Amino acid sequence: MKLIENAAVVITLLFSGLALAGSPSTDGDAEKGKEIAMGVCAGCHNADGNSIIPTNPILAGQYAVYTAKQLMDFKSEEGTPAKRDNPVMASMVTPLSQDDMQNLAAYYAQQAPQPGMVSDESLINLGKQLYNGGNLENSIPACSSCHSPDGKGIPPHYPRLAGQHAAYTLSQLQAFRQGTRQNDTNNTMQSIVSRMSVQEMKAVSEFITTLK
Ligand code: HEC
Ligand code: HEC
Repeated sequence: MKLIENAAVVITLLFSGLALAGSPSTDGDAEKGKEIAMGVCAGCHNADGNSIIPTNPILAGQYAVYTAKQLMDFKSEEGTPAKRDNPVMASMVTPLSQDDMQNLAAYYAQQAPQPGMVSDESLINLGKQLYNGGNLENSIPACSSCHSPDGKGIPPHYPRLAGQHAAYTLSQLQAFRQGTRQNDTNNTMQSIVSRMSVQEMKAVSEFITTLK
């Protein structure tokens, strides 16, 4: 019975993801994106999007539709908090037009991502188990079902996670949990992290670093 319930949770989550189809596509101009990336973003995300600061995400190789969506989500409408509430990035996106965002997203999508570095080996096994199999007891679905077994994601909407800094990944899982990040359509990620322990979040973040 438990198994059937869990299968239902996964299927519901998968369908809620599919409902994302039809969101903005992106066919930005990578050359124009590069100019802004070099001038404004490189200080924190590096020239090619391979940030070396663990709290700043690696943008290289990420799907353009996902990146453009994040940039839009950092913008707040007048009077309401941004769907992805982050003061640093909010100030970065304020001067950007929708075209700028699509151009930036196209630029980073074309850059080759560098492999990540693990800082806590002892968590890898638990992280791997969660990533590939979830945790049936708490109805946590396998991350691989949406982000793919090798962490490359499923374009355009399921982001690439492979090789991302563990500190950044953990910060996002916590942001989904605390509600400062609520830009996941149908609360997919928010509902998953609400059932994860802090130890599980740390472990899966370390494991994601090892994916290529
Ligand atoms: C002062 C440092 C800083 C600068 C400059 C900066 N960023 Fe960021 N960026 C961050 C941090 C920190 C985060 C994580 C925000 C969070 O926790 O939500 C982030 C997150 C992002 C994300 C989300 C990535 C993901 O995987 O969801 C994108 C996209 C991004 N930045 C693009 C840009 C672009 C484009 C520029 C230049 C216009 C830029 N950033 C400039 C620090 C910076
Ligand atoms: C049912 C599909 C689904 C499953 C299962 C799933 N995710 Fe996600 N995840 C998403 C979607 C969709 C987004 C993008 C949300 C958005 O647009 O910002 C996302 C975003 C993320 C992000 C943010 C990436 C970034 O660059 O900021 C992280 C981290 C993440 N997921 C980790 C996980 C982990 C860990 C698991 C397993 C415990 C998992 N996800 C399971 C659908 C899923």
